Amino acid sequence: MLEALRPQVSSIIDSNNTADAKMQEICELLKAKVPHYDWVGFYFKNGDKRELKLGQYAGAPTDHTIIPFGKGICGQVAESNENFVVPDVQAQDNYIACSITVKAEIVVPLFVNGENIGQIDIDSNTPDPFTKADESFLEFVNFEVAKIL
Ligand code: SME
Repeated sequence: MLEALRPQVSSIIDSNNTADAKMQEICELLKAKVPHYDWVGFYFKNGDKRELKLGQYAGAPTDHTIIPFGKGICGQVAESNENFVVPDVQAQDNYIACSITVKAEIVVPLFVNGENIGQIDIDSNTPDPFTKADESFLEFVNFEVAKIL
């Protein structure tokens, strides 16, 4: 299922649209097509500040439009430069809750020219849903998005 989405992501990237519109389409595609993706969004480094700013997303609006580096799963990935898979959000001390329905989360950093400039963040209402296939797929999505940034 995730494999089948790769060409659709690439065709959005190759389409004639703004980068913002392409990222919005990707969020909506992933949320619509992957049953265990309930909120899909991009966060980006906010200028020179050590904080993340919410970009495009699909799913319920969140209060967490700014996240300081080090805070929550997202803020930790901003510093670690590594994927963070959380099978059970309740087991995490450094976690920022967006909705009580969320059971699990995955955050994958987005690199442009080797620099961690943001991330894709997925929330799931399904417990422990993420596998290596999700990591690989989301790395692919970010690799594609990096081409338009
Ligand atoms: N749960 C995230 C905050 C962002 S929301 O999931 C949209 C975190 O702990 O960083």
